[in-house]
Amino acid sequence: MRSLAVIATLCGLSAAWMPGVDRNIYSKEGANLFKRISPITKRTLPTSGKIRGVNLGSLFVFEPWIAENTWSNMGCGNQASEFDCVMNVGQAAANTSFSNHWDSWIVEEDFINMTTYGLNTVRIPVGYWLREDIVYTDSEHFSQGGLSYLEQVCGWASDHGLYIIIDLHGAPGAQVAQNADTGQYASSPGFYVDYQFERALEFLEWMTTNIHTNNNFRNVGMLEIANEPVQDPNSVGELTSSYYPNAFTRIRAAEAALNISQGNELHIEMMNEKWGSGDPTQYLTDNWYAAYDDHRYLKWDTSVPVTPDDYLNTSCNDDRGGNWPTIVGEWSLSPPDDVQWNSDWDPSTNQAFYQKWFAAQVMTYEKQEGWVFWSWKSELGDYRWSYQDAVAAGVIPTDLDSLYNLGVC
Ligand SMILES: *[C@@H]1O[C@H](CO)[C@@H](O)[C@H](O)[C@H]1NC(C)=O
Ligand SMILES: *[C@@H]1O[C@H](CO)[C@@H](O)[C@H](O)[C@H]1NC(C)=O
Ligand SMILES: *[C@@H]1O[C@H](CO)[C@@H](O)[C@H](O)[C@H]1NC(C)=O
Ligand SMILES: *[C@@H]1O[C@H](CO)[C@@H](O)[C@H](O)[C@H]1NC(C)=O
Repeated sequence: MRSLAVIATLCGLSAAWMPGVDRNIYSKEGANLFKRISPITKRTLPTSGKIRGVNLGSLFVFEPWIAENTWSNMGCGNQASEFDCVMNVGQAAANTSFSNHWDSWIVEEDFINMTTYGLNTVRIPVGYWLREDIVYTDSEHFSQGGLSYLEQVCGWASDHGLYIIIDLHGAPGAQVAQNADTGQYASSPGFYVDYQFERALEFLEWMTTNIHTNNNFRNVGMLEIANEPVQDPNSVGELTSSYYPNAFTRIRAAEAALNISQGNELHIEMMNEKWGSGDPTQYLTDNWYAAYDDHRYLKWDTSVPVTPDDYLNTSCNDDRGGNWPTIVGEWSLSPPDDVQWNSDWDPSTNQAFYQKWFAAQVMTYEKQEGWVFWSWKSELGDYRWSYQDAVAAGVIPTDLDSLYNLGVC
């Protein structure tokens, strides 16, 4: 049992904010990734350091399509989701294979490489099952022991001065059907009932307390409360009228119990109105430190004509505003599946196009609060889903400010 005095001391170390806006953050070497070194000369450049980040996809919520080889080596081949794999291989074997995965998929050097690429943020998708006492042991099957690995990666990210967004990507009951990105391949979205909302709220309280009392989490400034709910306001129950306001109340109460000062409170992030699960602000009575997540995959927007020129034009003129502050928390360089290997889109012969499209998206998303690419790495051998592969292919420059000089938009 921690004494109050110890908690008070640890709170002095904790931090929660928007980087560069509410405060500056530094690596252990004193580097500040949010301060622009060169003077800002272009009208279009953002006036302060924007979020420039990558998602740690398939780390704590495994999406098999991103890393089929690793999935298979974990004994999960043919299994649709984490839940299915753990049920199939058993808890003991899953404990071992998932621990090995957490220990190897992302290592400290990844964060060093991110900083050399000019990135300043990581978004970390997690599942509610990280809090093991809310998992129904008789009917739910998930990996165990993930928290210490989350501490480890957040500690590394903090050491290297990166800002951290923790994202509740897998919600209790599954917030969408048949998608491994919830951690389970559910036949229907079971999240939108009170007892599942309640489990998510218990997760958020617990995560909030961990963030403020464990120094490894010192650079976590934002907690996203539900990734990608169903895109139909009529099918999400009381998501906006009950779950969102209750999440604010419960997170702030957990912070009040720790005597966290107002400026140190977490930003609480919801999908923006453009996502299509309702207006996230509609029932909020207090939107202090609220933030909004925009996911922008042109590949799934059937209103955009499928040509490289139209993609560039659309991205240059794409208004992602509406809620403020908005972070474009997921996007990629992938075009629609049915054209992605055609000569117009083949990544091995169209690097010049992909570089321009990357620049167009970055400049547009930096009109908002910034962006987080999906994802940092993959085993697809396709740089359109892997930031580090795109850097290696010369499609993404390591000097991100140079994108403003390409004359793309
Ligand atoms: C970091 O970048 C270096 C240089 O490109 C590369 O050799 C190394 O494999 C990268 N580390 C990781 C963990 O990807
Ligand atoms: C799995 O790991 C958890 C936490 O690390 C531990 O409490 C549990 O006993 C393990 N289960 C088995 C069956 O080994
Ligand atoms: C809460 O924090 C404030 C300063 O932030 C301090 O003055 C006050 O004594 C603290 N209260 C408790 C109960 O720790
Ligand atoms: C570019 O996009 C804008 C709006 O997104 C549209 O109004 C305009 O017609 C497009 N231009 C071309 C050349 O396609």
